[in-house]
Amino acid sequence: METIYDQIYALAEPYWHTRSGEVHMPESYALAQQLLTHYPAADESVVLPAILLHDIGYFGLPTETQMQGIAGSPNGWDGDITRIHEQRGAQWAGELLSSINYAPHKIREIQQIIDGHDSRTFALSLNDAIVKDADKLWRFTLSGVRICHRWVNKQPIPFMEYVGSKIDEWMLTEQGNILARSILAATRRHYQEQADDER
Ligand SMILES: [Fe+2]
Repeated sequence: METIYDQIYALAEPYWHTRSGEVHMPESYALAQQLLTHYPAADESVVLPAILLHDIGYFGLPTETQMQGIAGSPNGWDGDITRIHEQRGAQWAGELLSSINYAPHKIREIQQIIDGHDSRTFALSLNDAIVKDADKLWRFTLSGVRICHRWVNKQPIPFMEYVGSKIDEWMLTEQGNILARSILAATRRHYQEQADDER
């Protein structure tokens, strides 16, 4: 049976085909679901739509400009781009969710989360913390490393060093922290095995 999240997924998906969102969003969605199993007090009806919709504001922004929304970008970081994609994303998420008559108080919470998912370094709530962690956890996965290392002009091994050094700063939930370490260890093993095979 189709769930409300399948419906939101289908609404959000057309906006993902930029900045590898079509890889990032499904993986972060799965990571959010995994985190939710550890936090029964969190509200999946806020967390899941928020993760599916958090980056839709990148849609339609020129690729060159988008890359400046990433800290460590070789072209220099532009905090305005971060804010623009957050604000557009929050607005569009509100419109998409209203079109399926989603509860207005939930839409507001989802919009608040999207509106600060990169620029706000602290979490407003447990729901917000889970969305932030699920977003960043993708960078530790195999596909995340393969894709993101180029964004900041680093080779995969130094990129893994970099994200590894950021775990305590980025992860806002205890389970997010644990998961970041285990996912990164698996990704490192993969690169190690690949290097062994090539020898
Ligand atoms: Fe993201």
